[in-house]
Amino acid sequence: MSNQPTTESSPPAESTPPVVLLTGASGYVGGRLIPLLEQQPVKLRCLARSPEKLRQVVQDSTDIVRGDVLDPSSLEPALEGVHTAYYLVHLMSGSQDFEKEDRQAAAYFAQAARKAGVRRIIYLGGLGEDADPDLSPHLRSRHEVGRIFRESGVETIEFRAGMVLGAGSLSFQLMKSLTDRLPVMLCPRWLTTSTQPIAINDVLAFLLAAKDLPPGESRIIEIGSPDVMSYGDLIREYARQQGLRRSLIFVPVLTPYLSGLWLALVTPASFTVGRHLIEGLKNPTVVRDPQAMEALGVHPVGVTEAIRQAIQESDATP
Ligand SMILES: NC(=O)c1ccc[n+]([C@@H]2O[C@H](COP(=O)([O-])OP(=O)(O)OC[C@H]3O[C@@H](n4cnc5c(N)ncnc54)[C@H](OP(=O)(O)O)[C@@H]3O)[C@@H](O)[C@H]2O)c1
Repeated sequence: MSNQPTTESSPPAESTPPVVLLTGASGYVGGRLIPLLEQQPVKLRCLARSPEKLRQVVQDSTDIVRGDVLDPSSLEPALEGVHTAYYLVHLMSGSQDFEKEDRQAAAYFAQAARKAGVRRIIYLGGLGEDADPDLSPHLRSRHEVGRIFRESGVETIEFRAGMVLGAGSLSFQLMKSLTDRLPVMLCPRWLTTSTQPIAINDVLAFLLAAKDLPPGESRIIEIGSPDVMSYGDLIREYARQQGLRRSLIFVPVLTPYLSGLWLALVTPASFTVGRHLIEGLKNPTVVRDPQAMEALGVHPVGVTEAIRQAIQESDATP
């Protein structure tokens, strides 16, 4: 028995923590978010196509529900009672027509979230100018997913990021594999495109901060490190930190299609994924409006430090 007197203003002895649904939990960003959410005063529920793969990486208190964002019947139970839902799904790898499937999945998810009374969707998409007529299908599709959520009636925080610098990030792995293996690189012109990558730890800090924002309007928050640079400079900085001497020779004839083939030869990434990502490299991915990210109180590290952390994480990963 407690000696503590109960007053009318005391909170209930046991208040139910809000339920947070994490999709993409088996992916890189989602997987890194799991332990951070498990430290929060929330009840974590992960949606996974293969729950058995996740069981050993989550705490016993975390629920795992089987679900597929392309199967609307699986979303209703997954979203039941959910307060905040993270959408960190990337369909691109297995799909022939990822734009259509992205759209379909976002619509199913938004509809189920609305029906379940979800208060907020937090989505991580890609940087890039909406008005750019040459926006790659990959970035166009990432933006469309955000728009579907924002127009769904469920408050949506859409983060837009460029390359995530972290050991398990596919785009970082592509850069690492190429730079590690090729002393001389024939580079297409888009390696001069401006980009503003971001460290994985900063992405995670933004994703967490979004959960605790007061209720408000749906919004887009562009996030990035303080450094804008070209992809070529990014490769040079990675090589410098690894003590590698690398020559980049720029040729105009390497089309994105050929680059994808070339990537398939030298990297572990599949041809399809590599090609879609490469197509996106021609589009500048820079933060146009830093005010929204500044308001969240996260101060991203610079690219030099972000690469250092990613290399350290890679070295520590078996
Ligand atoms: N990595 C980057 O550099 C970067 C940069 C900017 C933005 N982003 C964004 O961040 C988000 C997460 O990226 P990531 O790098 O973590 O991706 P990732 O490692 O490829 O993970 C993708 C996740 O999506 C899940 N998924 C795929 N199809 C699904 C389906 N039909 N139903 C349910 N889940 C499905 C996968 O689960 P399975 O294990 O079942 O396949 C996996 O958990 C994406 O929206 C991406 O656009 C990433």
